[in-house]
This record gives sequence, C-alpha cells and structure tokens, in this order.
Amino acid sequence: MQVMSGKEVSKAVYEELHTRTEAFVQTHGYAPTLAVVLVGNDPASQSYVNSKKKACLSLGFGHQDYTLAQDSTQEELLSVVRRLNADSTVHGILVQLPLPSHMDSEAVIETIDQHKDVDGFHPMSVGKLLIGLPTFVSCTPLGVLTMLDHYKIETSGKHVVIVGRSNIVGKPLAALLMQKGRDATVTVCHSRTADLASLTMTADILISAIGKPLFIQPSMVKEGAVVIDVGINRIEDPAAKRGYRLVGDVDYDTVSSHCSFITPVPGGVGVMTIAMLMKNTLQAASLLAAKDTK
Ligand SMILES: NC(=O)c1ccc[n+]([C@@H]2O[C@H](COP(=O)([O-])OP(=O)(O)OC[C@H]3O[C@@H](n4cnc5c(N)ncnc54)[C@H](OP(=O)(O)O)[C@@H]3O)[C@@H](O)[C@H]2O)c1
Repeated sequence: MQVMSGKEVSKAVYEELHTRTEAFVQTHGYAPTLAVVLVGNDPASQSYVNSKKKACLSLGFGHQDYTLAQDSTQEELLSVVRRLNADSTVHGILVQLPLPSHMDSEAVIETIDQHKDVDGFHPMSVGKLLIGLPTFVSCTPLGVLTMLDHYKIETSGKHVVIVGRSNIVGKPLAALLMQKGRDATVTVCHSRTADLASLTMTADILISAIGKPLFIQPSMVKEGAVVIDVGINRIEDPAAKRGYRLVGDVDYDTVSSHCSFITPVPGGVGVMTIAMLMKNTLQAASLLAAKDTK
C-alpha cells in the first residue's frame, strides 16, 4: 500500500507555481492577485481565509481581503463583488462559503465575473467543465486529479465510484473523470443509493466525499483499490490539545491494509485545495493578460 501524500504533491505544485509566477511577474510587471471576501466571523471560514492569504504571500501573489459584517445585506456583498469584477488589478475573486442564511449563494456566485471565477463554481465554469471545454475547475476535484496524476494512477477503463454528489466535489469529479482522455466509467452514489457497499466493492478507484467520519469500512472496499478520502471531519478527542481531531470518511487504519493507494486525513486531499486555488489564480491572471494584449 502506498500513501498518497497531499503534502508531497502540493510541495511539487508550489515549486512549479513559484517558477511560473516569477516568469509572469517578469513579463507583465505585476503579480497575480486574489481578492477574498468573507461575510461574518465564523472561525472555520476565518481560518480558511487566513490560509489562502498565507499561500498568496508565499508565492508573491497580491492579496486583498474584504470582511463584511454577518448582518450585511446581499446587495452590499454584490456591490463588493461588482467592484472587484471591474478592478483590473484583481485577477481572481473568491467569496468564502458558506454565506449567512439570509444570502443567496447562487446569485452571489453568478455575479462573479466568470474570467475571475478561480473557485470554479460559476454556472458557466461548471457547464464548460461538463462539456469538456477548458475552464476553471473547482479546487478540490482538481486536487484529486493532480494527486492521481502525480502517482501515475491510470483512470482509463477503470470503474470509479464516487460517494457524494455535492456541487463542489462529487458532481465535478464525476464530470472530469468521465471526459475523453480520463475515460473512467463513473458511478455516483448518495444518501439514497441502495446497497451502497455492493457498488463501492466494485470500485477500482473509490472516492468518498460525504462528511461522515470513518464511514467507509474494509468490507466496502475491493482488495487493491485506490482510495481517495475527501472527507474532513472533526471527532471529539479528549487527548488532543483542541479537544478534537480530524479524520476522513474512510476508516484509514483498517482500510489501508488492503488497498493499493490511499490518501490520509489530514495531509491528503485537503492540503491540495489551496494549492489548486493558487494555480487557478495564476491561470486567471495569465488569461486576462492575454485578453488585454489582443
Ligand atoms: N478541501 C477539501 O479537501 C474539502 C473540500 C470540500 C469538502 N471537503 C469535505 O468533504 C466532505 C463532503 O463535503 P461536501 O461539501 O461535498 O458535502 P455535502 O454538500 O454535505 O454533500 C455530502 C454528500 O454525501 C452524500 N451522503 C451523505 N451521507 C451519505 C451516506 N450515508 N451514504 C451515501 N452518501 C451520503 C450526500 O447525499 P445526498 O445528496 O443524497 O444528501 C451528499 O451528496 C466533508 O467532510 C467536507 O468537509 C473537503
């Protein structure tokens, strides 16, 4: 069994991004710039926003932070997004989700200029992805593909079973893996799937993105399968400093002994997501620069 290390893969991604960013700055005289908009003061969201800022700084990207009060109106948020759309010094816009319940996330995402949609959540990006056109690919699915590529895991002709059908993980992953070139046969499962284990048992590559700690047990995994665990779940642990620890959807200790490759949690897919956001931001800056010179 080989552990697929998000730390190792993201290190390689950052090295490549460093080189490409230096070349970009040399050519254009400015750095790719990401604007991150946060509404409210949810500690988890604040921590994600901080990690994104750190990643920008480490690569020499420009970074702008906008924090709106929890009780801001939708119109206030939309006006920040529109201002960033119009600002030619901003190349990527990310509105940290989830938004407060009085806001309409879809309307906010649709307002982001699709050329700056580095999260890949805009309906235009998602539609292009589905029909196999180049576009921004949402960061977690892109992270999974990058890990598969890094470990030279063939997807052509393989049966990939994805557990979870969310718009940010399960659906885009299914669309990506079934495209020509990836050529996987994809089964997508969800909470209404009957006899889930009988399907997961047939997976050459099993991807879990459900958000249920230690849900995937050895009896659900074929001997020699590749297991990708997207889940990040907190479980109580009085021995841990913070009173909890992070685990995946997969029961790593019992499943790892009979699969060929597995991603750990933490240190697996989760580490890849911000690296992919940086990659998308550099891509946005490059495409916008190319558009400007036309
Ligand atoms: N950076 C990262 O690595 C990253 C990024 C995003 C998410 N995550 C993690 O990935 C997990 C999933 O996130 P998400 O946003 O995709 O979650 P989500 O929107 O809550 O979707 C969960 C999906 O799992 C399905 N599901 C729930 N219980 C199930 C069960 N018992 N059997 C089969 N399917 C089941 C749901 O089915 P229904 O559609 O039928 O409800 C739904 O499609 C979470 O732990 C999250 O923290 C990690």
